[in-house]
Amino acid sequence: MTHPVDLQTRDAIAVITVDSPPVNALSQPVRAGLLACVRQAAADAEVRGIVLRCAGRTFIAGADISEFGKPPAEPALTEVLEAIEQADKPVVAAIHGTALGGGLEVALCCSHRVAASDARIGLPEVKLGLLPGAGGTQRLPRVIGVPAALEAMLTGRMLAAAEFAGTPAIEAILEGDIGEAAVEWLARALDAGLAPRRLRDLPVPGAKDLPPDFFDTARKRVARDMRGQFAPRQIIACIEAAVTLPFDEGLKVERDRFIECMDSPQSAGLRHMFFAERQTAKIPDIAAETPTRPIRAVAVIGAGTMGGGIAMCFANAGLAVTLIDTGEEALQRGLETIRGNYQRSAAKGRLSEQDVTTRMGLIRGATQMTGAAQADLVIEAVFEDMALKQKIFRELGELCRGDAILATNTSTLDVDEIAAATVDPSRVLGLHFFSPANVMRLLEIVRGRDTGPDVLATCLRLAKTISKIGVVSGVCYGFIGNRMLEGYGREAGLMLLEGAAPEDIDRVIFEFGLPMGPLAMGDLAGNDVGARVRAQRRAAGRLPADPRYGAVHDRLAALGRHGQKTGKGIYAYAPGNRQPQTDPEVTALITELAADLGVARRRIDDREILERCLYPLVNEGLRILEEGIALRASDIDVVWVYGYGFPAWRGGPMHWAEHVGLEKILDALRHYAKTLGNDYGYWTPAPLLERLVADNTRLADYRPG
Ligand code: 3HC
Repeated sequence: MTHPVDLQTRDAIAVITVDSPPVNALSQPVRAGLLACVRQAAADAEVRGIVLRCAGRTFIAGADISEFGKPPAEPALTEVLEAIEQADKPVVAAIHGTALGGGLEVALCCSHRVAASDARIGLPEVKLGLLPGAGGTQRLPRVIGVPAALEAMLTGRMLAAAEFAGTPAIEAILEGDIGEAAVEWLARALDAGLAPRRLRDLPVPGAKDLPPDFFDTARKRVARDMRGQFAPRQIIACIEAAVTLPFDEGLKVERDRFIECMDSPQSAGLRHMFFAERQTAKIPDIAAETPTRPIRAVAVIGAGTMGGGIAMCFANAGLAVTLIDTGEEALQRGLETIRGNYQRSAAKGRLSEQDVTTRMGLIRGATQMTGAAQADLVIEAVFEDMALKQKIFRELGELCRGDAILATNTSTLDVDEIAAATVDPSRVLGLHFFSPANVMRLLEIVRGRDTGPDVLATCLRLAKTISKIGVVSGVCYGFIGNRMLEGYGREAGLMLLEGAAPEDIDRVIFEFGLPMGPLAMGDLAGNDVGARVRAQRRAAGRLPADPRYGAVHDRLAALGRHGQKTGKGIYAYAPGNRQPQTDPEVTALITELAADLGVARRRIDDREILERCLYPLVNEGLRILEEGIALRASDIDVVWVYGYGFPAWRGGPMHWAEHVGLEKILDALRHYAKTLGNDYGYWTPAPLLERLVADNTRLADYRPG
């Protein structure tokens, strides 16, 4: 292997180049190379100044995340930073691409920074449950001020380097090859008498003018907006230290808090998610070089809420979309809803009027199926009715180009049955968007029995184009996400009958970190919808013959208590207010229903609520994994984090299960089978769970088949 850091000296300027693809992360070889090169250049009496640049697509993108959680390897990053900062000649960071995390912290230890016009900088550690641990919390406030530094670290957002041009953060924006340009800039500056300057010696600008409650307000804000997260509070403490303590003491606060964050299960969960998201597109039997089909024009069939949201996803990405609905009125309503959504975004300043016009200009309405004839991809998003979907696919098979991909957005029907309606099922797959489709990041890509590899590869690439995270699922009822939802919702309903208060069930789940509990979610989605699906499944013999199953919600739906939309569901809602209120009528109704069904009522504690909601969900996840419906446990985590709001800092349900302990979960399932009865198999452990526990194997290492 060639060495990832190189030193070349020309005309008394040393150029240190980091070349460690893909993103020049600060792995041990990079740290060791940097340290050696900086020391050598600093000690060379012939060298007047040093340029630190990177080869490839980006400046250093941070510490090497794959090294976290492993024993530390010398040299430590702090040693490298000290060598850079203590050099007695100017060191210029030449930034292109993205200088992130430890990468930006390296640059902030240099005496000067120059950047390409499109370079971006950021401290995204919070997204990994960390804080900038290499001086970033102390140095960034000294160059961009406290409010901006705090915002950058709490959001982890990237900032345009050009925004800071001409300040100590970024001295100059340079054109052309950034390495060459930096050398020229440094040579000129040295001739003009440039001397090293250490950011650690600068005062924090505007520190005295901060309102006295500045940090308390920030703490309150993160308690509300970043509920349950550990790192944001630590970031605030570090920046407060930058304001109130001498530099070296501030650095010590940062070091201690960084270690606490690094050792936290939250950071382990978020680091797991970082790699999980990047795994989803890797499909074992589909080579990375599988050719993909160009997707330039898309047709969406059905102008309802889902179809409209899907059309917006493509228009947002600059693709032409034809929205088709055979009813003229429904089509116009759909188009107006889309326009209204865009206009609301514009009113909030998220889009310009020009963006609204451009995006609406990309969406064309049509009332004939022939509107789909020229599309590269057609997505059907009509009512969940197999006969209707098959009719549409039969028609599409005939009128679309032979190479067009045909997708269904079904969430409950069999994709293979739908595909069978076409002559060529290899071009058919499921693209399951989550509502609201233009907002939710998850896209379940359902691979049918006959889906062609290039069709799947094309849709995985397309997911990225439309800023979604695509997760491949096999065909089964509910695919990955909704199938796991079943046990979760079932137990919530059963616990109501057994004596738990709705607000207690929802509180436990909310406190665990989901945006809302299962009952509030039912009220939002509409209890009538769930009742209709249950009725269909019961008729098809696909539900357990348990009279308690869904009983509370079926009764609510029968009474017209459909949830928020009717002002009454499990909870009552005051007009125009989404705040759920306990409704004594519902308490009475549940008590009566329990008596009718012979269910004894008792007190149910928080621990039981949590276990009964989440362990069946995990158990089903294990079945899904064993059946090969999901390719890896981390794919299931991605589905639940991006589709259902499972807290990312818990790493998704499967990572969380591993953290809890698979053996503990297995014991709990057996315990509930004994205490609650297992007539319907609710508590039967997934065979994979038993096997993993018996073999002492980690779930993260398991691959189906
Ligand atoms: N460490 C290890 N691997 C990394 C990495 C890192 N910091 N950043 C990216 N990678 C890997 C990815 O896992 C991926 O690997 P794969 O090809 O095997 O899946 C590959 O690099 C390419 O990454 P992306 O697919 O994300 O490429 P993009 O071009 O879409 O994005 C990026 C590039 C913007 C740099 C993005 O990768 C990114 O945001 N990386 C993380 C940056 C980050 O969080 N830095 C802070 C690290 S913590 C830290 O520095 C602590 C310090 O304060 C002490």
